[in-house]
Amino acid sequence: MAEEHEGREQPEEQEVTASEETGEQSVQQYPHPGLETRALSRFPEAAVQPVARTVPEDPDAEVEGELFQYWSKTPGGHKWLHYFELYEEILHSLGSRPARMLEIGVFRGGSVRMWSHCLPPGSTVVGIDLDETCKQFEDAASNLHVRIGSQADPDFLKSVAEEFGPFDFILDDGSHRTDHMIDSFTHLFPEALVPGGQYLVEDTHTNYWLAYRDSAYSFVDFSKDLIDMMHAIYLDRPDERLFREEHASRLDEVRVPEIAAMLKEIRFRDSLVLFQKHRHYHLPVSRLLEE
Ligand SMILES: C[S@@+](CC[C@H](N)C(=O)[O-])C[C@H]1O[C@@H](n2cnc3c(N)ncnc32)[C@H](O)[C@@H]1O
Repeated sequence: MAEEHEGREQPEEQEVTASEETGEQSVQQYPHPGLETRALSRFPEAAVQPVARTVPEDPDAEVEGELFQYWSKTPGGHKWLHYFELYEEILHSLGSRPARMLEIGVFRGGSVRMWSHCLPPGSTVVGIDLDETCKQFEDAASNLHVRIGSQADPDFLKSVAEEFGPFDFILDDGSHRTDHMIDSFTHLFPEALVPGGQYLVEDTHTNYWLAYRDSAYSFVDFSKDLIDMMHAIYLDRPDERLFREEHASRLDEVRVPEIAAMLKEIRFRDSLVLFQKHRHYHLPVSRLLEE
């Protein structure tokens, strides 16, 4: 099932091997050595001592919200409970107008049903999955649709976007394979998400589990690179006056990759990365107030 990765550069510090039985690739060296050399070495000694992370009873760990209320009554559902806080934020940010949502990965239908129930009336929820049996969770009367295909197939994604998109919210809870996460994002975020839309990738902890790691370049690596991409505008323009309101040097136009202009926000949480797309693309403006 793993994709071919011809032409992709592999970082030197990670050794990628192919399993003889499956032909699938896995990264043998983990954790990433950069964790120790680049991040931990910058902290004072006390901050890097091991601690027991488990908190026996945490009153803040209570899960709240209408998505959880509905989901917890759904038979066969399976989710990490800390996801619901962000889900709830996303639900409320979508407001009261009908929304269009795409979920990659239907499984037993629990999540698509939950979103379909909780999104404002008139909303459309589309689930995609490789597994044909997921078609049974379609409920056209409730605007809940299921299409069968792979999240790694750009033609399939395009056809789903043409049929139901563009979407206000896309949730990737599919194969959790690193290259699939990247491929789906690169096809759906630019083309199938509305301006101002949100794209959530969940279970990114699987990037740290060898069984899911079908490429040395993980989705988390890719997301970190997109933080740099979000700052592309500043790369060859190291002078704040180029962006200052009413300054003679102020630039009217800057050429950057379109994806750089689209990225408004990238939020990382444990196992979750949420991207927001800009509503309008414009240059950042600085203002110098008179003394
Ligand atoms: C974690 S489950 C989805 C769970 C569901 N979102 C929920 O919370 O109830 C992952 C699903 O992704 C599907 N899947 C695996 N590989 C896929 C691919 N390449 N394209 C689309 N779906 C895939 C599996 O068949 C499975 O149903």
